[in-house]
Amino acid sequence: MIKRTTYGYTAENDNYFLDIEFFDHDIIRFVYSKEKSLPKTSSAVIAEPRKLEVSLNNNIVETSRLKIVIDEKTLRVKIYDLEGQLLSEDLDYDLDVKSDKKIEKCHKLKEAKILLKKKKLWETGIYGTGEKYGFLNKLGSKMENWCSDVLAHTQLHNPLIDNYHTSIPFYIGADLNKSYGIYFDNTFRTYFDFAKEDQDVISFRADGGKLDYYFIYGATTKEVVQKYSEITGKMPLPDIAYLGYQQCRWSYKNRDELLDVAIKMRENKIPCDVLYLDIDYMDNYKVFTIDSVAFKDFKKLALELKKMNFKLVVIIDPGVKVEKGYSVYDEGIDKDYFVKMSDNKSEYIGEVWPGKSVFPDFMQEKVRIWWGELHRNLIEQGIDGIWNDMNEPADMSNDCKTLPEDCKHKTDENQIFDHSEIHNLYGFLEAEATYNGLEKIQENKRPFILTRAAFAGSQRYAALWTGDNASIWEHLEMSIPMFLNLGLSGYSFVGGDVGGFIGETTPELLIRWNQLGAFTPFYRNHSACQTTHQEPWAFGKETMDILRHSMNQRYELIYHFYNLAYESYNKGIPMLRPVFLEYQKDPRAYDLHEQFLLGENIMVCPVVRPGIKKKMIYLPEGQWFDYYTHEIYEGKQYHMIDIEIDKIPVFVLSGSAILRSNVNQFVDDIECENLNIEVYDGSDFEKIFYFDDGNTRNYEDGTYSLIKIKLENHKIEIEPVYNGFDMHQINVNYVFEDSTENYLITF
Ligand code: GLC
Repeated sequence: MIKRTTYGYTAENDNYFLDIEFFDHDIIRFVYSKEKSLPKTSSAVIAEPRKLEVSLNNNIVETSRLKIVIDEKTLRVKIYDLEGQLLSEDLDYDLDVKSDKKIEKCHKLKEAKILLKKKKLWETGIYGTGEKYGFLNKLGSKMENWCSDVLAHTQLHNPLIDNYHTSIPFYIGADLNKSYGIYFDNTFRTYFDFAKEDQDVISFRADGGKLDYYFIYGATTKEVVQKYSEITGKMPLPDIAYLGYQQCRWSYKNRDELLDVAIKMRENKIPCDVLYLDIDYMDNYKVFTIDSVAFKDFKKLALELKKMNFKLVVIIDPGVKVEKGYSVYDEGIDKDYFVKMSDNKSEYIGEVWPGKSVFPDFMQEKVRIWWGELHRNLIEQGIDGIWNDMNEPADMSNDCKTLPEDCKHKTDENQIFDHSEIHNLYGFLEAEATYNGLEKIQENKRPFILTRAAFAGSQRYAALWTGDNASIWEHLEMSIPMFLNLGLSGYSFVGGDVGGFIGETTPELLIRWNQLGAFTPFYRNHSACQTTHQEPWAFGKETMDILRHSMNQRYELIYHFYNLAYESYNKGIPMLRPVFLEYQKDPRAYDLHEQFLLGENIMVCPVVRPGIKKKMIYLPEGQWFDYYTHEIYEGKQYHMIDIEIDKIPVFVLSGSAILRSNVNQFVDDIECENLNIEVYDGSDFEKIFYFDDGNTRNYEDGTYSLIKIKLENHKIEIEPVYNGFDMHQINVNYVFEDSTENYLITF
């Protein structure tokens, strides 16, 4: 019997219960369990179920968008759209998989405990799945989700590695006409098989927990991505400075080295907004301390950097050095704030940079508040943002390179959890603690946190970089599908170590990597200790001049990036988009990863191989302006284009607009008078651009403007839709193939 509940329906058979909850007419939660009560959602989920007008006829539940057929005997479901197309069909599920396969080293179960198998239907592509190596389309592959310090396993990113720093158990099935997403709300180690073992079956499994997932339907993948962000949230609106160029290295070891970088940036007219300090700024790698010898008068140093208009971000790892007399350790021990061993009595001691270390138990809210508050001193010293690293969590004391799965966490209510259930959430909870802390400490500022480990929903707190890559061309190329799939998995503010982290970069690789970096949301050059330096001046003037061009290009488009960040914050749509996200009906737009869209109208075609002179690109429907020459290229065609060392090929869709500003040394230096709306002639369109002060939280009280631009029969109209931020005027450049007209519009 299927019965109505407050937010959905429930059904049961001899073994299991099925609960269906509606979050919308096309966002539906399915939970299979052995108990009658519905489990709590994980911390990733922020949406609440809704009471919707839906109907039940026999065993068919109908919403305004979907039909769900429940087999009352087996509780398996089939989901159809209202035209009767089958979207999803369960083949089998099991909440107690019996396996005689033995447990491997690191407690890795060969066969997970819970399992759901769905029929592979019409999907021509599988996307999302967070931070994974390999091509864009994941159909035909298998993967695990278990946050891992990849390099600690002495492995470089490669397609044979299952686990990366980040775990996002979300995937999208798509073809030309339809799309769905499945978010598996399970924080244990999870596994996906996208028709690899059996080409008719897509399955997801977990080492424990509940069989609890959300089915999200959309006519397009863009719609699915947007709806997924209703479940796990959107990125906050960033301070615009963090969309600028950022410079890092492991490590700038003392104040002079850091100041030298700052001075060289300004002397060489390399636009840059953010500098980083890696682990060596601390006293013996003790988090929340500063080495008072190497970084003497830290406050003064921070002030000097501020005067040169740099923001300063420092690294904070979760491992706390075991050392009596070190206040963070003492207080944490005193208050019982650290993760425990399997006996739940003594603290688990692992090993990170400071040597023997304990790990804050972020499951407890009071620990999160404590950790957040610990940042106060750093902020008072003049630090602006926080870089959370090693938060998978990484642990060098054992072969598994993380905490043993039977370590114990607890909540404020003393509910005990094994690390196997919390592991994937650890980085998420640390970022949450840091974000909430900075929000309190930095009055009226927008917190900036960068994280390495993440789970579904981490986008609400932190930007993400994809960890330890290498200075090899393959990693440059493979970072693109990784960023694009992260974007489809709710993570818009992403980037990788530009130039490559380990190994030796070369001038050509650094140039090509910067050209890509200038078009990725998070743009930071970072390299490991003992590698060749790769600051923009490291390879001499000729290379630096070309690199400067990339950075200038980024600053020209920084307000455009900011508008795209606003779209991610507002609608959950990623800044970087695979071409098919905008051209779902075009079969040739599928699975491209050597080119991508920035927003809906800028086609970026990075060069990811050494020495090439030509590159084949595909331009979808419409006409496309060469960004540099304004020459028009026809869409729905492949083009063989010439490649030059100092240029990344970029095209702008005709009948669209971008925001462009004159370049300077840092973002605050861009005068409003230099801000242009650039309209590319073509068919009619309408677009709204967002403006605010770029760094305070005043926008939350309405201090922002929305300016609408409209092209109709080649005539431009501009009007403020909402003018809370004092926009008096704006320049317009109207671009044709062979000329440009300029206007000044005042309001
Ligand atoms: C990790 C980080 C890297 C950092 C290093 C030292 O390997 O991924 O970015 O530089 O630790 O802190």
